[in-house]
This record gives sequence, C-alpha cells and structure tokens, in this order.
Amino acid sequence: MQLEYRQRREQLIAKIGNGTAIFRSAPMAVMHNDVEYAYRQDSDFFYLTGFNEAQAVAVLAPNHPEHRFVLFVQPKDREKEVWSGYRCGVDAAKEIYGADAAYPINELDEKLPQYLEKADRIYYHLGRDRHFNEKILEHYQSLLRTYPKRGTGPIAIEDTCAVLHSMRLIKTEAELEMMRQAAAIAVEAHNQAMAIAKPGRYEYEIQAEIERIFRLRGGMGPAYPSIVASGVNACVLHYIENHRQMQDRELLLIDAGCAYSYYNSDITRTFPVGGKFTPEQKALYEIVLEAQKQAIAQVQPGNTFKAVHDTAVRVLTAGLIDLGILKGEIDKIIEEEKYKPYYMHRTSHWLGLDVHDVGVYQHGDDKPQILQPGQVLTVEPGLYIVPDTKLAEDQPETDPRWIGIGIRIEDDVLVTPTGHEVLTAGVPKEIDEIERVA
Ligand code: GLY
Ligand code: MN
Ligand code: MN
Repeated sequence: MQLEYRQRREQLIAKIGNGTAIFRSAPMAVMHNDVEYAYRQDSDFFYLTGFNEAQAVAVLAPNHPEHRFVLFVQPKDREKEVWSGYRCGVDAAKEIYGADAAYPINELDEKLPQYLEKADRIYYHLGRDRHFNEKILEHYQSLLRTYPKRGTGPIAIEDTCAVLHSMRLIKTEAELEMMRQAAAIAVEAHNQAMAIAKPGRYEYEIQAEIERIFRLRGGMGPAYPSIVASGVNACVLHYIENHRQMQDRELLLIDAGCAYSYYNSDITRTFPVGGKFTPEQKALYEIVLEAQKQAIAQVQPGNTFKAVHDTAVRVLTAGLIDLGILKGEIDKIIEEEKYKPYYMHRTSHWLGLDVHDVGVYQHGDDKPQILQPGQVLTVEPGLYIVPDTKLAEDQPETDPRWIGIGIRIEDDVLVTPTGHEVLTAGVPKEIDEIERVA
C-alpha cells in the first residue's frame, strides 16, 4: 500500500505545481469527560499517507530541494505509550510511511516556514480546529511580511478540496478491493439480520447481530450509527434508538454499513417482520423496488449523476399517482416537488473513505457531473408515509391505510467502463425472496 500512497501524493503534487499542501490529522473526539472515542484518522490525511495517529501534520512541498513529503508526528514516549497506545514516532515515519523528513509535532512552527517560503501558494483546508487554522494564517502572514526580502513565498491560500477530492472520487483498484470487502461483510450482516428478525424481537437485538458480524469479519465496526427501524420508526430517516419491540404485520427497515480498512459500505433493506407483506406494504414496496432498479440502470459512464435521482423520482411519483396518494399531472407534480412529503431525500451520494464521500455532484447549474468508471455511489430511493405530514393544498389527504409505512432500498454501485456493478447485490430485495414463513 505504501507505493499507492506515494503515487497518490505524486498525483497531487502534479496538480499543485509550485504550491505547498498542508494536511492536519483528525483531532481526538471526546466521548464524555476524559474518555475519548476510538481514533479515526481524517480521510484526506489517510488517503495520502495511510498514517492513522492524531497530532500529526503532513506537508507536500514539491518546491523544496530535498523534502517533498514531510511528516510531523508525536514522538516516541514510552510512558505515554503505556497509557494511550503505540506511536509510530519520528524514525518510523520515514522508514514505514516514506517521509523524506520527519519531525516531532512540537517542532512544526519552527520547521514549517522552510517548506512554505518557496511555494507560490498554500493548499490548506480550513478545518474545524480554529486554533490550527490560526496557526497556518500566522505563518502565511509572516511570510507575506518577508516576501519582498525573498521575492518568493505564498500569496494565496487555496482549499485542498478541489485538487484532492476529484482524485478521491475515482477509486483505484486497491480502494475497490477494500470497498468490496466492506460490502461483502455488510451483505452477510444484512442476510443474517433477515434470518433472525421476527415478531417479538427487539430492534437492538438485530443491531447487535449486525454489528457482531462487522467486527467478527475484521471490519472496524459500523460505518455510521446503524438504523434498525420497525413499523412507523422507518419514517424517521435517521432513527437510531433501536429500542422497540417488533410486531407482526410491520416492516423492518435496516440501514447499516460496515467500515473496513477505512472504507465504507451503506446498505438498506426493508422487509416484513412476520414474513408477509400486507397489501399496502407490498404496493409501496413494489414502487420503491422499481424506482431503485430503474435508477441503478441509469448508472452508466457518460450518463449524468442527476439522471439517477430524476429517474427514481419519476418512478416513485408515477407509483404514488397510481395508488391515488398523489393527484395531478406527473410532470407538474415533479416540477413543483409535491412528491416531497413522501420522498424528501436525495437518491444517491458518493461512497468511499467517507460514507457521504467527497466530490461534487455538479460543476455549476448548467454543468452536470458525468458518471465515470471508478466512481461509487449509493442508489437509495424510498417512500415514507409520515404521520401528520404537511401536504400541498391541492393534494388529497393521505388514506390512513398507508400511514406509518416507511421503505428504503439502498445498494452501493460502482461505475464500470461498460455500465455498473452492484457491490451489495448479495442481499435479496425481490418480494418472493424476502417473504418467508416467520
Ligand atoms: N446511512 C446513511 C445514508 O444512507 O446516507
Ligand atoms: Mn446512503
Ligand atoms: Mn444508508
């Protein structure tokens, strides 16, 4: 993998010309009082280095005569390592991570100027750590003051997102290997969840089984808080309490993905807890399934990202009109977004090191994002007949028999040179596959 990280750095260096790029590791996050969450590296930082410790800064300085890649890290400290775990340290930052130079993090202020003074701009993402932002600005200002003396130095700060995130959007083979594994583990977990869900069980029992499999198979854990939502809970998009006892004649919506080697999967399935759909559940499910299939069919290189969502919206809206839940002419309903009380989210997001991965969805109003091989996106249409929802004035009141039904079907789809590949196809979604004897 070190070779791949180096290739990514070289690819980025080719884009930043004579600039110097600075990346900050993610901070430790506090869970409560003095207890911290398990550490998770910033995705940009990880993408370029594979280094997963806090209190680190990576510098790419193509303008420096010797040090193109510099790491500032926590130095080895036997006593501290006994408490909070192994540190790579300065020497191994060079040996293992391939830095041309490495320093203890407390030397950042002293050493950083030499990597900036020949650069024409600084590439840096203003992050949440305002104190660190301030530090970079101080270096920048100080170099501006001494600019006339040298005649070199940065005269602009540019965010790293444009140069880096267009790279992250196209996954390499090595990344896809990780994503396939993240997908395979989540597929197994969803299949197991389907096998054990039944009336009388609690949502958290299903969650526990899913997350057990995530770890058992070598995953880091859930890619995001698992959603196990029975009955009307499925109408809460980010329901994560998962404490309800499931009943017969209800649907169970499970939205759970696995993080594996920093890469994520994101799957949703909805199925009848007791094994059989009610007629209303089935009618809505058929619409969502058809919307998802047609939307997935749009995932083709050369097609637009937007076409995936537009297709899903059209199928969902047509279905709701057929059922009498929406009334009116389809184009007008879509244009006026009158389907939104029942379908309020987007159909897709990029997927990768972040669950809602980086990369733009359009390049301005008139310039759509064109799908390209190597991109991975979710396709996740749904219908949510939310109780007491506010409808447009010309729309009929929702017949109570539909109310409280929430359905989403979500797969992770890779754009390939000839079309697409559904990475999460191993979890059934056809009605005859998910109906069963309870
Ligand atoms: N589970 C987060 C999402 O589907 O976007
Ligand atoms: Mn998703
Ligand atoms: Mn999801």
